Amino acid sequence: GMVRVPTHLVSTICDDRGEEPTYNGVSMSELIEGDYGIGDVISLLWFKRKLPKYATKFMEMCIMMCADHGPCVSGAHNSIVTARAGKDIVSCLVSGLLTIGPRFGGAIDDAARLFKAACDKGQEPAAFVEELKKKGVRVSGIGHRIKSKDNRDKRVELMQNYAKENFPSTRYLSYAVAVEEYTLQKSSNLVLNVDGCIGALFLDLLSSSGCFTEKEATQIVEIGYLNALFVVARSIGLVGHALDQKRLAQPLYRHPWEDVLYME
Ligand code: ACO
Ligand code: LMR
Repeated sequence: GMVRVPTHLVSTICDDRGEEPTYNGVSMSELIEGDYGIGDVISLLWFKRKLPKYATKFMEMCIMMCADHGPCVSGAHNSIVTARAGKDIVSCLVSGLLTIGPRFGGAIDDAARLFKAACDKGQEPAAFVEELKKKGVRVSGIGHRIKSKDNRDKRVELMQNYAKENFPSTRYLSYAVAVEEYTLQKSSNLVLNVDGCIGALFLDLLSSSGCFTEKEATQIVEIGYLNALFVVARSIGLVGHALDQKRLAQPLYRHPWEDVLYME
């Protein structure tokens, strides 16, 4: 019989060999002629399935609201400095992207992991926070440099309102909000941040949309899909900052001496 030569590569998300490319079985024609958006493309290429409108719209909202947060945040600052050093767009972009991690933009998966474990075992929010404190671990998804109890993050409020109106369940969001209520008693900047809010709401999507098995939901959180959403979103802003600096023909950046505490 026929002997199948083992391939060097396995790919399961798309096919470019036919008359037209497909994303998880959906042709370009269907994408363009049907009512598909970027949230649907992410659903097909990342989650390998179509997701309901409220879910794809949520992902698009995350992308829109996390696209930029000003020139002063770590990522944008890096991209701006890189652009001013005369580097190309890809260098500016990756220089900014490299700052995304546990403190900045990349706390979504960890927040989801922590909230899921604690909520699933019915741990009281106060006990959850105190247990992490004892371990010397910060609560991912909690805390902000400029946002606080009296200066709320509008993005978080918009996401919460959308989810409450459109998601079948917001159980994990409620848990995250209860954690926030407790951390706010400690310090006014320990708010639920965008990372934490996206993490909790994704848990709600994964568990209540009926589109994922429990095993798939666990795998998604374990692999780290959610930080990728911030990466895609913030890339838009990072490119924007790089183009802005080039358009303005800004000179090489040098940090001012006055702003450095020299302690030799
Ligand atoms: N959990 C518990 N305690 C915290 C947390 C937290 N998430 N954040 C701050 N604290 C407490 C700590 O007691 C800290 O003291 P320590 O330095 O002895 O640990 C104290 O608040 C002051 O902390 P700072 O470092 O001054 O807080 P800062 O305002 O600089 O930090 C930051 C902001 C980095 C976001 C922080 O809150 C944090 O690490 N949060 C968790 C990671 C996270 O969610 N990042 C995503 C932010 S949103 C975004 O980037 C899009
Ligand atoms: C962001 O979206 O970049 C932030 O929430 C972080 C910040 O410090 O503004």
